[in-house]
Amino acid sequence: MEEIKIQRAAKLKEKPDPKTLGFGKIFSDHMFLLDYHAGQGWHDPRIVPYGPFMLDPSAMVFHYAQEVFEGLKAYRAPDGSVQLFRPADNARRMADSCDRLCIPPVPEELFVEAVKALVKVDADWVPNEPGTSLYIRPFVIATDASLGVHASHSYLFCIITGPVGAYYAEGINPVKIYVENDDVRAVKGGTGYTKCGGNYAASIRAGERAEEQGYAQVLWLDGVHRKYIEEVGSMNVMFKVDGKIITPALTGSVLPGITRRSCLELLRDWGYAVEERLITAEELFDAAESGKLEEAWGTGTAAVISPIGEMGWKDKHVVVNGGEIGSLTQKLYDTLTGIQWGVEPDPYGWTVKL
Ligand code: COI
Repeated sequence: MEEIKIQRAAKLKEKPDPKTLGFGKIFSDHMFLLDYHAGQGWHDPRIVPYGPFMLDPSAMVFHYAQEVFEGLKAYRAPDGSVQLFRPADNARRMADSCDRLCIPPVPEELFVEAVKALVKVDADWVPNEPGTSLYIRPFVIATDASLGVHASHSYLFCIITGPVGAYYAEGINPVKIYVENDDVRAVKGGTGYTKCGGNYAASIRAGERAEEQGYAQVLWLDGVHRKYIEEVGSMNVMFKVDGKIITPALTGSVLPGITRRSCLELLRDWGYAVEERLITAEELFDAAESGKLEEAWGTGTAAVISPIGEMGWKDKHVVVNGGEIGSLTQKLYDTLTGIQWGVEPDPYGWTVKL
């Protein structure tokens, strides 16, 4: 592996108050860059001061959205050390996303080394207030200056980071979600299982409509039958129904979340029956109306574990667990974040010290 060159910023930025962090507005001092050119492969890994790129206006990413991204976090443990959570899983998923978007995959070992090297350089940016972390956003863009619709021959892999608090304004308080009936986010055979910008662009209109009605986010239905629930824009979803855990199966249009995978491993270890399967909106709302839906929550890197307190669908509106966080949701949150922040032992080997 080529050595990562480091060019440090001449002037460091002022750090924000860690008590007032939101999500995704503040960025640290440095970024990681890696180039790809056909014939040369991925080359020239470097860490440079955070700043704008110069790109040709005809760069393919602007026109045909040949782009993929990832999201992971670095956490400050009580002894002051910094740790990552399952970074190799993000590297693997980005390689899968690249494959779907015809982008040459970034070698997985290089992805993890690059994340570690960048977080080491900006380690002072990892906040230590409860509930805060350093969000890490790796992404690849197609840079060929060309308007022909084909795979680009050149790419840029970049990683930026920034300190974050809760993704939702509600924090750990339950969010309201709305089942979208008109727009669809993804279909089987499309890009739904990847993290590509286009999936998120397609979700914005329904998200705005939901927000106008007082909901935090949209719960997507499958794009073919329009009846099976899939995921919320920024998280996977899980439900406790009659003591069992049900969650939408990964059918190709649902993101294979790393927090989702971790929660399912925890739940199975705790002895819960877990069903990954198709779930209709009708089944979900029937369970809620008959009192069988005990808890509902979302899982995601940014969203962590977010309790769902209310759900709307057409003219229906249901409140889950009296609008309060449920005991299993709280246990998942405490266990997962305990491992992530290094306050609980990590029997799974999920955390990676810098
Ligand atoms: C993440 O959870 O890391 C994501 O990429 C979701 C994004 C919508 C914030």
